[in-house]
Amino acid sequence: MKFITLISELRKQVQQYKEEGLSIGLVPTMGYLHEGHTRLIESARQENEIVVVSVFVNPLQFGPGEDYESYPRDSQRDVDVADKHGADIVFMPEVSELYPHPQNITITVDSSMSAVLCGRSRPGHFDGVATVVMKLLQIVQPHSVFFGMKDAQQVAIIQRMIDDFNLPVQLIGCPTVREPDGLAKSSRNVYLDDEERRQATVLIQALQVGHKRLQQSIGTVNELIETVREQIQASSLAEIDYIEVCTYPHLEPILPERQLRDVTTHVLLAVAVKIGKTRLIDNVIHEPTTGNGGDGTLCFVH
Ligand code: PAJ
Repeated sequence: MKFITLISELRKQVQQYKEEGLSIGLVPTMGYLHEGHTRLIESARQENEIVVVSVFVNPLQFGPGEDYESYPRDSQRDVDVADKHGADIVFMPEVSELYPHPQNITITVDSSMSAVLCGRSRPGHFDGVATVVMKLLQIVQPHSVFFGMKDAQQVAIIQRMIDDFNLPVQLIGCPTVREPDGLAKSSRNVYLDDEERRQATVLIQALQVGHKRLQQSIGTVNELIETVREQIQASSLAEIDYIEVCTYPHLEPILPERQLRDVTTHVLLAVAVKIGKTRLIDNVIHEPTTGNGGDGTLCFVH
């Protein structure tokens, strides 16, 4: 496996592989790799001859007061983990390599997609994500790029950027990887102390209850949100940032009084909850019922 920190070197290496007719898959990450990341690497491995994993904690996507400085980092371990799971190249640039001067020209995500869900409490976050992903796509020019559905809004926005800029790359969204008790794997889970970790399962438990209502088309959107809220409030440490229900992948709001049985699009039910100081997110996506009234099924396995 090759460890590369310079854009010029990465470009040269990728070019060589392309001249050999090999297909390239890119897995963008911020490192501190866990099983959520390694499954993306393995999926990329299955679909491509060459897998590039980027590890870069992107300052542009962190707001003031967020955890950019303290974001967990372990470069040596990341290299080992990526290698073990089949990466051919780990690209780990310094901030000064990717942003040698202030990035005067950036991607702006329309507020219809960026001021909802996580974007509401993280202004500018998705502009930073889209900008760095655009840079990585330009640098690597992969055939396919892999993202986790745990960050469903990120997937929707990057897919929209690919469409809007006619980028010649296929986005593959991979299912959320979970701990045995259902907690979605996340680099930020290391922040949780024992009691917080125990209570963190409230996210998946609440989503499961919500998902059932969606499958059975019981009640209104507002009642769905309130049911999920009650579930989360059962945890003494949980502080709700948002519980949102919107269409997927357009992220359009659905009126609170709308009956679930009348909603015919894919529905994203997403939550963000602070447990102690740690902000955790999770979601389920519900597929509309087809045919004559059967239960809806999940379009992505969560
Ligand atoms: P990061 O949080 O490191 O996540 C990298 C990729 O791993 C993302 O596509 C994310 O959705 C996926 N991922 C994380 N936890 C997962 C889980 N439990 N199951 C499945 N996939 C999971 O997302 C980012 O970094 C950054 O915003 C990035 C796209 C790299 C741009 O800086």
